[in-house]
Amino acid sequence: MFITFEGIDGSGKTTQLNLLADYLVEKGYEVIKLREPGGTILSEKIRELLLDKSIPIPPMTELLLFNSARSFLVETIIKPAIESGKIVLCDRFYDSTTAYQAFGRELNYENVITINDLAAGGLIPDLTFYIDIDLETHKIRTLGKDLDRMESSGDEFYKKVIEGYRKLSETNENRIKKIISKNEISDTFNEIIDIFENKFNKI
Ligand code: TYD
Repeated sequence: MFITFEGIDGSGKTTQLNLLADYLVEKGYEVIKLREPGGTILSEKIRELLLDKSIPIPPMTELLLFNSARSFLVETIIKPAIESGKIVLCDRFYDSTTAYQAFGRELNYENVITINDLAAGGLIPDLTFYIDIDLETHKIRTLGKDLDRMESSGDEFYKKVIEGYRKLSETNENRIKKIISKNEISDTFNEIIDIFENKFNKI
C-alpha cells in the first residue's frame, strides 16, 4: 500500500504522516516512512542542490531534478517495499511537482504530468492526503524560519501552488482527499483516520 501526504510548507503534513505511521505500527503493520525529495543517498544529495539558496535553478531543470530524485527512490525503495507487503508513507510525491512546478512555476501542465508519470514508473498512490492551509496560515507558521530556495519563492508563487493543490484535489477526488488543517493536531488526525479506515475497510 502506498500513501502520500501533500501540502504547502507549514501545513503540518509531516506531523500527520508520523501519527499515521505510529497508528499503523501499533496495529502490527510494517511501515516505511519516506520523504521527497530524499529517502536515498542520491536523492538526498539532489535535495540539497534543490534547496540551496546560492544555486539559481531554472524551472525546467528544477522539474527534472525533482523527478530524477523520484525515479531513483521509486525503483530502489518504494516499489520493492510495496511488493514485499509493506505500507509506504511518503511525505510528498508527484502531486507536489504538479502543484509547485506546473501551477507554481507555470511549466506546461501536460509535460509535467508526462514526466512525473515516467519518473514514477507508472506507480500511483492508493491514497493521498492533501492538508490544506491558506497563505496567511503558511506565513504565520513559517515566521522566523530560515527559508530554503523553494520557500523563498514569494507570496504569488505560494498562491498559485495552493490553487494548484485545490484544483488537483477536486479533479482527483477519489484519490486525493483534501483535509482542512485544524488548530488541534488531533482533530486533523481524526479526520485522516476516518478517511483511511473507510477506504481500507477498517484495516
Ligand atoms: P519538504 O521537505 O516537504 O519541505 P518542508 O519540510 O518545508 O515542507 O519539500 C522540500 C521543498 O521542495 C518544498 O518547498 C516543496 C518542494 N517540492 C517541489 O517544488 N516539487 C516537488 O516535486 C517536491 C517533491 C517538492
